[in-house]
Amino acid sequence: MIYRKWVYEDIFRIAQLEKECFSDPWTFRMLADTFFSENTVAIAAEEDGKVIGYAFAVLAGEDADLANIAVDPAYRRRGAAQALLARTETEVRAAGAKRMFLEVRVSNAPAMSLYLKAGYVGRYARPRYYGNGEDALVMEKAL
Ligand SMILES: CC(C)(COP(=O)(O)OP(=O)(O)OC[C@H]1O[C@@H](n2cnc3c(N)ncnc32)[C@H](O)[C@@H]1OP(=O)(O)O)[C@@H](O)C(=O)NCCC(=O)NCCS
Repeated sequence: MIYRKWVYEDIFRIAQLEKECFSDPWTFRMLADTFFSENTVAIAAEEDGKVIGYAFAVLAGEDADLANIAVDPAYRRRGAAQALLARTETEVRAAGAKRMFLEVRVSNAPAMSLYLKAGYVGRYARPRYYGNGEDALVMEKAL
């Protein structure tokens, strides 16, 4: 598995993975706008010559927000998300962030487990945060 920063061409594949992995996917346009922001840290995982996972975070001073992380279903449970998260944390810390925040659906047990294992702690809930009325749990980690 290779981990590297996104290049523009990755966004086509990442938009496709968004559709496969989320009920409320980021569109190509949203991803491209975020990619071009100087406050974005965006890491891709590549195997078999294609992007099979990605993570991206947005910096705001000493805080960073993990915008999304996903892995192609065919490549899950092989440590890709754990590595993507660790690399994203390293990059945002190098850019000056002291904390990483993220939101996770309360029903998303795989993601919750990933974050707990990586040292995130639950801070508070955002009631009915998602389009289907589901709550989000806000989690935080000191970097
Ligand atoms: C959540 C997700 C990114 C995990 O990707 P992954 O590459 O399979 O995760 P990893 O192999 O790095 O797993 C790391 C840890 O996460 C947890 N985990 C991952 N998948 C899990 C599952 N299906 N059930 C329970 N725990 C899981 C485990 O603690 C795992 O450690 P272990 O394998 O030693 O038990 C992936 O399932 C995914 O893309 N889901 C859809 C998108 C999504 O929900 N993203 C999060 C948005 S908040």
